[in-house]
Amino acid sequence: MSKNGFFKRKTFAQDTQNSVHLNKTLGPFDLTMLGVGAVVGGGIFILPGEIASEIAGPGIMISFIIAGLACCLAALCYSEFASKLPVAGSAYTYSYHVFGEGIAWILGWSLLLEYGLAVAAIASGWSSYVKSLLAGFHIEIPTAISSSYNKANGTYFDLLAFLIVIIIGILLSVGIRESTRINNVMVIIKIAVVVLFIVVGAFYVKPDNWTPFLPFGFNGVITGASMVFFAYIGFDAVSTASEEVRNPQRNMPIGIISSLAVCTLLYILLSAVLTGVISYDKLVGVSAPVAFALQAINLNWLAGFLSLGAIVGMTTVILVMSYGGTRLIFAMGRDGLLPKTFAKVNRKNTPVKNTLIFAFLMGVVAGLVPLKDLAALINIGTLFAFSMVSIGIFFLRRNKDLPTSGFKTPLYPIVPGLSFVLCVYLMLNLPKLTWISFSIWFVIGLFVYFLYGRKHSELRKL
Ligand code: ALA
Repeated sequence: MSKNGFFKRKTFAQDTQNSVHLNKTLGPFDLTMLGVGAVVGGGIFILPGEIASEIAGPGIMISFIIAGLACCLAALCYSEFASKLPVAGSAYTYSYHVFGEGIAWILGWSLLLEYGLAVAAIASGWSSYVKSLLAGFHIEIPTAISSSYNKANGTYFDLLAFLIVIIIGILLSVGIRESTRINNVMVIIKIAVVVLFIVVGAFYVKPDNWTPFLPFGFNGVITGASMVFFAYIGFDAVSTASEEVRNPQRNMPIGIISSLAVCTLLYILLSAVLTGVISYDKLVGVSAPVAFALQAINLNWLAGFLSLGAIVGMTTVILVMSYGGTRLIFAMGRDGLLPKTFAKVNRKNTPVKNTLIFAFLMGVVAGLVPLKDLAALINIGTLFAFSMVSIGIFFLRRNKDLPTSGFKTPLYPIVPGLSFVLCVYLMLNLPKLTWISFSIWFVIGLFVYFLYGRKHSELRKL
């Protein structure tokens, strides 16, 4: 069934009989917590200020619904793949089976953009929140190492952003069991803080603040949707864990779908309360909009809690996205498309070397580049992966090599078809500069593949 060259596909047996594999320790609760851990972060604690005030107005609620719908449809497609292919690597691995090596590489390369840059971007947001907290205790970080590179402001490197990525890398290298225990506690704290905001804030909502509802028209809502999409990114990181999950056929769909359902509900409610508590036009240039809204209604005690929750929340995003990135690199290294050293594991079957290299590189990016310059690029890489997974369902259903049991995307072919169309539509609404940057990344990826991956591919040796 395999073809030669760019379109050569893996068989089910080849991928499930790998000599190097990871331990199966995760259950449905851990997976759901990993999903929520990866999703709720900077997208909700930082970005809504700019998007509500300058792009979508109170209509940001609709933006969240549209982006949530695209993600829910994509999540169903991911679940079908994850339940049939319990192997590390997520969309990269799925493509290897349905589209062949070349497309798998392109997908893996796009996912590196998603996981790698998301870690860097959120670390930069994390650092801003921590700095404002430290400022409350009159602790100042020396200017030169307080923020990403900006010669005009005299800042060169964001040391806090760098350090948090390294600390998380060290935690992950201890083991996934230990990391998920810490993740579970932090996720419960962040959900509690978001629910507290929604419940308390609801008493201060003034419906007048929702008029005009669409100050920037429906176009603003759509552009807003392609930007708030960032807030949903991460549920797919759950699927990189496939190889470390007990009973993946059942547990992967539960983990992916339930984490996304929790986040979608929280986001829609939070955006409604946020724009109801404070008028959208007061959020111009506000980088911590939720805490700002609470200060505006004199709930300073709650604003303090919220900032702590945001810091904890962003920590788990860095943790789970780093985890996803390392498992992706592990899978690509095992296949020979990246150097084999990335697929080395220690006695506890943890890919320690790959984890520490990933943390160091992403720490450096986090230290140099600010969040807002990275978010749109992360969105396009992720939307590309989602659209390929959606279209991949059509190929999966015709692939006789893969098991037919396990989770099935409902309402086939409507759900995968609609998911594909929505993801492409959101991609088309991203800024031109994002497309240019993505194209450059894409071309670099092709060079790396033709100069390295193609020559070292394990599949080609068979
Ligand atoms: N969804 C993640 C966040 O908002 C990337 O932080």
